[in-house]
Amino acid sequence: MFYYLIRKLLFLIDPEKSHTLVFKYLNVKYIQILIGLFLKPIPSIPIKCMGLKFPNKVGLAAGMDKNGEYINFFSKLGFGFIELGTVTPLPQIGNQKPRMFRIFQSEAIINNMGFNNLGIDNLIYNIKKSKFKGIIGVNIGKNKNTSIKNATNDYLICIEKIYYYASYIAINISSPNTKNLRNLQYGILFKNLLKNIKIKQKEMHQKYSKYVPIAIKISPDLSKNEIIYISNQLIKFKIDAVIATNTTSDHLYKKNKKKIKGGLSGLPLQKKSNDVVSILHKQLKRKIPIIGVGGINSLHSAKKKIKLGAELIQIYSGLIYHGPKLIRNIIKKL
Ligand SMILES: Cc1cc2nc3c(=O)[nH]c(=O)nc-3n(C[C@H](O)[C@H](O)[C@H](O)COP(=O)(O)O)c2cc1C
Repeated sequence: MFYYLIRKLLFLIDPEKSHTLVFKYLNVKYIQILIGLFLKPIPSIPIKCMGLKFPNKVGLAAGMDKNGEYINFFSKLGFGFIELGTVTPLPQIGNQKPRMFRIFQSEAIINNMGFNNLGIDNLIYNIKKSKFKGIIGVNIGKNKNTSIKNATNDYLICIEKIYYYASYIAINISSPNTKNLRNLQYGILFKNLLKNIKIKQKEMHQKYSKYVPIAIKISPDLSKNEIIYISNQLIKFKIDAVIATNTTSDHLYKKNKKKIKGGLSGLPLQKKSNDVVSILHKQLKRKIPIIGVGGINSLHSAKKKIKLGAELIQIYSGLIYHGPKLIRNIIKKL
């Protein structure tokens, strides 16, 4: 009830501005203490995945805390893991504003952020500062000015820098808002990327005597054959997990008679990403775990994603539309 009241006010403001406003206040120490008093810890229901022990199956999807500024707040909501990022080697401002839109009647969001972030070094600083002991995934991408031909290098720079501080690393090759990024999901570009990140992972494993799993985050706009190809390569290169899915560019939402630019998330994405999870599951046969994300907005949709083959799930838009209660309800009743 309280959340829906606050939401009503926040939804009167521009989406990106209200996001910034909310998080500005969340970082005030006394508000954090108050939240801690209201939100009692949820008993953990541990699950093992990618060789890591998760307190529960529900994680925060990438993009909400790009720079790792609110790690302790999100852990207090009950999330079993928090995926930070997408971060890039160098800070960048992202695409032109406005770049975040709510489609209220559809429980959806369209975003065209373009990896606005403060860079990998700043993220490391924030992770260290948080002193958080839970599971932190770090989602990495390439800088806008790096060509697709040289993209692998950006991922390798990020892996090398973040390896010691991350519980797992997510390779984002599926955002629709960075030109040509999704080309990395196909053919030789894909194989080269997988080969090189595995070499880097091995090198870092030896250096730190710590194995950090690597997950690949894919798009919901792939054909069945493309998903099968990707699955086979993931098995071949012994990738640790696959995150399905990012936002879809396959939508017709318009503003002022023009198609809204960006990727669609939330309820209208649910079926599309569920279909991807299903195909992956048939192909991977639990050889590689699937982290299911896209359109989870209820206990029912969370259960469905798991039934289709997801071992862990993540939520973004559902949290915006339904608030922390959704997360707590799913964790308690799963
Ligand atoms: C405003 C916004 C920003 C996002 N930024 C990122 C990002 O930086 N990296 C990424 O991998 N996914 C990003 N995503 C995608 C989410 O992590 C998630 O894959 C997608 O929204 C589907 O889940 P949902 O339907 O629960 O929102 C973003 C989504 C939104 C709405």
